[in-house]
Amino acid sequence: MLVIVKEDYDAMSKEAAKIVADRIRRKPNLVLGLATGSTPLGLYKELIRMHREEGLDFSKVVTFNLDEYVGLPPEHDQSYHYFMWENFFKHININPANVHIPQGMFGDLKISPYETDPKVEAYCQWYEEQIKKFGGIDLQILGIGANGHIAFNEPGSSLGSRTRIKTLTEKTRQDNSRFFKSIDEVPKYAITMGIGTIMEAKEVILLANGENKADAVKAAVEGPITAMCPASMLQMHRKAIIILDKKAASKLSAEFIYYG
Ligand code: F6R
Repeated sequence: MLVIVKEDYDAMSKEAAKIVADRIRRKPNLVLGLATGSTPLGLYKELIRMHREEGLDFSKVVTFNLDEYVGLPPEHDQSYHYFMWENFFKHININPANVHIPQGMFGDLKISPYETDPKVEAYCQWYEEQIKKFGGIDLQILGIGANGHIAFNEPGSSLGSRTRIKTLTEKTRQDNSRFFKSIDEVPKYAITMGIGTIMEAKEVILLANGENKADAVKAAVEGPITAMCPASMLQMHRKAIIILDKKAASKLSAEFIYYG
């Protein structure tokens, strides 16, 4: 793991953008895994600036998003489809045919702890196959939940899991209720890439900022590898870069941290 600590959110975002831009310049048809949420907004803003001012070309880039809420149509303003188009895709020259975001609408679902609705299962398998068809993800961007989740792999998720439907924890629903009118409106399920899917990305960048992420970051970087902190699995990744602001890094004690 390479852990880079930057002064603040802005510097963290720019550092990440520099790496993403470098990878796109080296491989114009980069397969880029993307996250939603507050954390990567600064990264997207900087990539948009690079596109406008420096000609960073996304025309051949292929993207795969980590997750989507179940039950929100793409035009819903809290869906991750909407988020990605509003905050990133509509501002760059991406080919819409190269954009992949998990589907969230399946009609009525039979959800039980023992079996997955066949529609959902078939779809999740299809999503995994699309990733393979493009040769796998070259670079995956990740945020981290205050509970240590990556994508919507909540604590307790299998470390080998693949794309599937997951029940969101109360903590995650509460954290994300800030974007909804009330917690009752926050979906209960999401389609998410699995930890196994994420681990197959050739390179991973995890971003975290703010004090409320400091415990999760410490557990991910310095704690034992455990399904109770899904992000800790990144310790097993061959090429994981963790970029933090000072607040998110404030509980780290390891000496290998690079203060850039
Ligand atoms: C979003 C995702 C989530 C977020 C995490 C942090 O696609 O996969 O794991 O990265 O919940 O969210 P923010 O950045 O809003 O704190």
